Amino acid sequence: MAEAILEVRDLVKHFPVTRGVLFKSTVGQVRAVDGVSFDLLKGETLGVVGESGCGKSTLAQVLMRLEPPTSGAALFEGEDMFKMRGPALRRLRRNIQIVLQDPYTSLNPRMTVGDIIGEPFEIHPEVAPKGSRAQKVRELLDVVGLNPEHINRYPHQFSGGQRQRIGIARALALRPKVIVCDEPVSALDVSIQAQVMNLLGDLQTEFGLSYVFIAHDLSVVRHLSDRVAVMYLGKMVEIGTEEQIYEHPTHPYTQALLSAVPVPDPTMRGRRDVIRLTGDVPSPLNPPSGCRFRTRCWKAQDICATEVPALEVRVADHPSACHFAEERAVV
Ligand SMILES: Nc1ncnc2c1ncn2[C@@H]1O[C@H](COP(=O)(O)OP(=O)(O)OP(=O)(O)O)[C@@H](O)[C@H]1O
Ligand code: SF4
Ligand SMILES: [Mg+2]
Repeated sequence: MAEAILEVRDLVKHFPVTRGVLFKSTVGQVRAVDGVSFDLLKGETLGVVGESGCGKSTLAQVLMRLEPPTSGAALFEGEDMFKMRGPALRRLRRNIQIVLQDPYTSLNPRMTVGDIIGEPFEIHPEVAPKGSRAQKVRELLDVVGLNPEHINRYPHQFSGGQRQRIGIARALALRPKVIVCDEPVSALDVSIQAQVMNLLGDLQTEFGLSYVFIAHDLSVVRHLSDRVAVMYLGKMVEIGTEEQIYEHPTHPYTQALLSAVPVPDPTMRGRRDVIRLTGDVPSPLNPPSGCRFRTRCWKAQDICATEVPALEVRVADHPSACHFAEERAVV
């Protein structure tokens, strides 16, 4: 098995909810990420999937060190990344980059693409000395399938898919080892999504990148992911290889998500197992006791309200956080 480049251990991120203006008092905690552990292996894509609000972006922000964790650890190449300072932190900032969902708001409209893609070189001049930057930016434009001649254009002169390519070029500028992709194709048309996904796949091979690839839909990550983790209300509920998750899902929530994936073949539609999730996702301010999924689970029993199910292997050779994990082929 490949070595882990990132080892995340019991990561917690709570946001305090405060009341009052002058005399603030904390009245609760949003448990956005609540004890998440996983490894990211060198060269792999780990898909991270879950409904809106389950903590995916918060996880990304903490891994980018844009938000401090409440507790827990993450080792980057064996070193605790939350303890890094000085040169080690600079190296880390080069090595982990992010691609965001919205290519409209994440690019400064008043900067040329050359300045946008070259901006990381201002902070890390050791990667590209001043005289070589324009050439480096042209190379990056070429690598992501854009015309290097367009280096002086502005973001509004590009289509949505092209803007996402600009975002990818910027993420690549410092030759990182890990890229966290936070819903990079969710804002794009379906036909453009496939092109951007293919580009990400090609770049991964070319540069030996490891990806944490966040999406809210299991169908988006399937093609690119080696492994997939499913999140619900700040916790990981199931993690496994692409085949284990799609062909042998064992957690009721994963099964429900799979059941919601559209089926392209019309002859299959009548025959598939449809699981309809009832109710809304509970608030992360006050998550249900025991198993957080129990308020929407058709299999819930008394133990589900009192005991938190550990994420461990019970059946089907991969971890699942359900007391009653069992295989159920959905698609
Ligand atoms: N800075 C913050 N302060 C307070 N609460 C926050 C903050 N950031 C996120 N949250 C809350 O944390 C929870 C998780 O949010 P997060 O953005 O991580 O979810 P997500 O899975 O990325 O959702 P989406 O699919 O909508 O992007 C939500 O309830 C959100 O309101
Ligand atoms: S532990 Fe209980 S409530 Fe949670 S998913 Fe399993 S059966 Fe459902
Ligand atoms: Mg998000």
